[in-house]
Amino acid sequence: MTYDFRIAAADTPTMYRDLASALEGLVAGETDAVANMANASALIFETLPDVNWVGFYRNIGDELVLGPFQGRPACIRMSFDEGVCGAAAKTRQVQRIEDVHAFPGHIACDSASNSEIVVPLIRDGELLGVLDIDSAEKARFTSEDEAGCVKLGEILSRVL
Ligand code: SME
Repeated sequence: MTYDFRIAAADTPTMYRDLASALEGLVAGETDAVANMANASALIFETLPDVNWVGFYRNIGDELVLGPFQGRPACIRMSFDEGVCGAAAKTRQVQRIEDVHAFPGHIACDSASNSEIVVPLIRDGELLGVLDIDSAEKARFTSEDEAGCVKLGEILSRVL
């Protein structure tokens, strides 16, 4: 079986709608969290233009531990007091950072990264982890990206 999820959409909301339905299809009926995170990071990395890292940090005992991702090797463990991911985990709010170098405590895993969006993944009040997406472009992520990524997070929270 081959998967071909090439998505070419005219505008960002349509692109995220197509991406969300591709993701729904990819994780449908699969209960293995690692498999779902692995395929989700590959799908998002392939689909979104101008991103250089897409992946997951899982909440393991109130520590963020690296999960499946696409991109350069990344830091393995972060506390909730560290980095953009920690801020997303601690506040349970999406962090959309135009310039990561101006973010206090930002952890530079890849010095090429300049902007970042991190979506907390929550199910039944429990923080499962975060979805982290980085870009080498400054201010890469708009409010349309945020709305789209929140939707992806909702799909993922059901299958992790
Ligand atoms: N920059 C992140 C760390 C993770 S990497 O970007 C993959 C942060 O500050 O949370």
